[in-house]
Amino acid sequence: MCGIVGAVSQRDITNILVKGLQRLEYRGYDSAGVCIVTDNDELERRRTVGKVKNLEKLIEAQPLSGFCGIAHTRWATHGVPSETNAHPHMCGDVALVHNGIIENYEVLRKQQLETGHQFDSDTDTEVIVHAVSDAYKKTNDLLTSVQKTVESLEGAYALGVVEKGNNDHLIAVRKGSPLVIGIGNNEHLIASDVFALLGEAEHFIYLEDGDVADITHKGVTIYDAKGRQVKRKINKTKLQVNDAGIGEYDHYMQKEIFEQAAVLKQTLEGRIANGRLLSDCFGKGAEEAFRSIEEVQIVACGTSFHAGLVAKYWFESVAGLPCHIEVASEFRYRPHIVIRKTLFVTISQSGETADTLAALQASSDIGYAHTLTICNVPESSLVRESEWALMTKAGPEIGVASTKAFTTQLTALLLLVIALGKHHKIDDKKEIEIVRQLEVLPEQVAEVLRLEPDIIEFAKQFSNKHHALFLGRGEQYPVAMEGALKLKEISYIHAEAYPAGELKHGPLALVDDQMPVVAVAPNNDLLEKLKSNLQEVQARGGELFVFADTHAIFEEVKGLKIIRVSEINEIVAPIIYTVPLQLLAYHVAVIKGTDVDQPRNLAKSVTVE
Ligand code: G6P
Repeated sequence: MCGIVGAVSQRDITNILVKGLQRLEYRGYDSAGVCIVTDNDELERRRTVGKVKNLEKLIEAQPLSGFCGIAHTRWATHGVPSETNAHPHMCGDVALVHNGIIENYEVLRKQQLETGHQFDSDTDTEVIVHAVSDAYKKTNDLLTSVQKTVESLEGAYALGVVEKGNNDHLIAVRKGSPLVIGIGNNEHLIASDVFALLGEAEHFIYLEDGDVADITHKGVTIYDAKGRQVKRKINKTKLQVNDAGIGEYDHYMQKEIFEQAAVLKQTLEGRIANGRLLSDCFGKGAEEAFRSIEEVQIVACGTSFHAGLVAKYWFESVAGLPCHIEVASEFRYRPHIVIRKTLFVTISQSGETADTLAALQASSDIGYAHTLTICNVPESSLVRESEWALMTKAGPEIGVASTKAFTTQLTALLLLVIALGKHHKIDDKKEIEIVRQLEVLPEQVAEVLRLEPDIIEFAKQFSNKHHALFLGRGEQYPVAMEGALKLKEISYIHAEAYPAGELKHGPLALVDDQMPVVAVAPNNDLLEKLKSNLQEVQARGGELFVFADTHAIFEEVKGLKIIRVSEINEIVAPIIYTVPLQLLAYHVAVIKGTDVDQPRNLAKSVTVE
């Protein structure tokens, strides 16, 4: 992953770079660094381990200023988070920042060692700066040196490069990792996303794969992968800086959990009315094309993948449409057979996840009929590259552990289930029933959030545990998976989810009084079966933490603790039952004192495969 910012201007750009890095911290926070071409044309660098605020402090202590520079926030791939592995990397008269992975770095490193290079870091990046520097020594021309270097690189990457002796020159490269150019007032900027530059630029150029941009404060010249000069469209962004801060909450994650009632309402607004789905909510031509769709293929990663798993149950049981789902990193590397007219659906909070994007890019060659993304970030790569986009209106999600993005994805997916199902199993009566459930959903979520004090009591009993099991059946199985993922992401407790029926095929061997077992148990056809599975846990002295409907009957026995959720309709149950699991993970993490919003080793947007 990693985040890149750079600028060429006629004013000091140090603060702009640091501010940009802060907005890119969702891409990684293992180390941060900046390199400025100073007024006397020297390269000056500051690097720190950890978050951007450490870099800010360092710059306060050792000030830096200049008109041209590059900066980077790192999510470590090759080499531990350390100052020497932090970007920018330098060699000779060149400094460089990199996002992505150089797959052939071992070969290049070996060759460079043989020609006398010494390596300061363990990164794959360092081979790039050595290669550019070698070429630069011969040509004294940064553009051609970078162009020559990228010919030898394999992998996906974005680069920002500056040179000693020229404080009005920056080279940017995009190949497989996102990079935008912001057109400012008498200046140009680069960044991994538009958000990093909001306030400094309104107009942006999205570089295309293979592009190399030659940038000064006055102008931008772009060359494509074949070295031909090309023109790229200038887009005016509609995005606005929208960071209302943390408000009354202790963490962004808590704020985002509590925002869910409001953002679900926002996601539904203008899309349902009078008990019906409004036909135009998927964009031009979608309604017509949906008539002929016979199958759905979903591809996503992480939490978004869990949303897709729930949707598979909905597509098949409610809409009567076959639905396949696969994690993007697997999907993209195996052959597929598409027989029927299939809608290819990607789900993503960020819209930039490298594997999901690569899967989308491969989809038309494989033979999928149409593409649609369910995404939270307007103008993101997935939105730009899909035929249709159904935006979740969750607003910016800052906490690395995804919460409101997940429940809004599920809500958006239900809209898609209706839209496609109308041409299959969903009749008028069913459509009205689902829409009515969606209309009351925000209020029901608000009600579950009131259970927080009870959930804190549950959480206290997890904080000294090292493992936990999560159980569910049917569409609650992916909900259990999401609950386990939340717990491991932020509390570092090892948690696994199982379909409750699988318990006896292995995981039951782990059950003892040190293994809390969480079950999501709404009142549905599978409740009695689930209860039998829970008894198997009780009989082995396991401790059960159950979330169940108000009226569900559970025998009061030792080791069983229940939190009651108001009676709800089965269709929206996965959305409602997710919320207490988010709160459980959140409070366990708070009790354990972990970094809830930026858990160790993770990043919010995964732009490397
Ligand atoms: C990372 C994030 C997860 C997210 C996943 C997929 O792992 O930490 O929260 O679910 O990426 O991201 P996407 O933006 O595609 O939903």
